[in-house]
Amino acid sequence: MAFMYSGAGAHRTRQDSRNVSGHMLSAATIDGEDIDRYCEMAEAFETGVGPIGRAAGRAVALLFFQPSTRTRVGFQVATVALGSHAIGIEDMTASRSNKRSGETLEDCAAVFSNLCDAIVVRHFENGAAARMAAKSRVPVINAGDGWNEHPSQALIDIFALRRGLGRIRGRSIAIGGDPRGRTVRSLVQLLRHEHPTEIVFCPPSHIPVPEDLIETFTRHQIRFRQISDVNDALTGCDAIMMAPYDMSDIGEAPNSDYVSPRRTPDSHVITQEKIDRLSSSALLYHPLPRQDEIDPSCDDLDNARYFEQVRLSKFMRMAILDRALSAV
Ligand code: CP
Repeated sequence: MAFMYSGAGAHRTRQDSRNVSGHMLSAATIDGEDIDRYCEMAEAFETGVGPIGRAAGRAVALLFFQPSTRTRVGFQVATVALGSHAIGIEDMTASRSNKRSGETLEDCAAVFSNLCDAIVVRHFENGAAARMAAKSRVPVINAGDGWNEHPSQALIDIFALRRGLGRIRGRSIAIGGDPRGRTVRSLVQLLRHEHPTEIVFCPPSHIPVPEDLIETFTRHQIRFRQISDVNDALTGCDAIMMAPYDMSDIGEAPNSDYVSPRRTPDSHVITQEKIDRLSSSALLYHPLPRQDEIDPSCDDLDNARYFEQVRLSKFMRMAILDRALSAV
């Protein structure tokens, strides 16, 4: 996919949803060249030389069926910065796509895509964004579907890792926290193009690394190993990407086997005391929200990059929207 713009006001008059390009449903469809282009465009927006204006007047639908702080506000801010308009329904349970009215996701997509130029959707159901894309006349961006994927977050994570480390190639990247979540699944798909020396998983002992992630590494001949104490990541890795432990908001019942205990084992919590004692220079990232896996005592350390990751997210979301809007 290229960053070519098809012309302002190039609204579709009659468009088969099957011909729509520009969906971002899975990180698996983003290749190394795409990552480079997204990062270049994000940097252009950050430094004020990005193509502001070509998305002016476009309407971006933000459909959040599930709680969000960063992704929702981040896409709103990015939309405004591009000169576009963010529209949506404040509370999706008040839309017709609720349990009582029962309008399908497919019909919701057909309706919104006849009114808007792009759809950003978060939903508790795996595959929800793909279902909407199948009926949408405009690009659909998956802003998190169940435990499946969160590709825009993965691009932000890569952008932030590159910024902190200079490059990911040749670096050792740890993934702490719960490896089953959607942020990890999407990040793993992008890391295979970045050529880290190795991926080091550091999950609590009761949470296995999902088979599909192991299969991805094996298939792409990426070295990976598992450790049982976050201290080993603090001393042996260049960066640690933490993942939230709390999965209660992804549509799983509170008593589901999938839901993690809210309390992180001490062996897996990152604290200032551990960083100081180990003289760790590992950079700390987290898509957030955090529970207790990175103690706030770390926030003012040079290691802590998770709020810088949030700052950078605005520019990556601008790049993502710019590309999606250029496709229609
Ligand atoms: N990182 C992320 O997806 O955060 P939100 O759930 O707040 O959007």
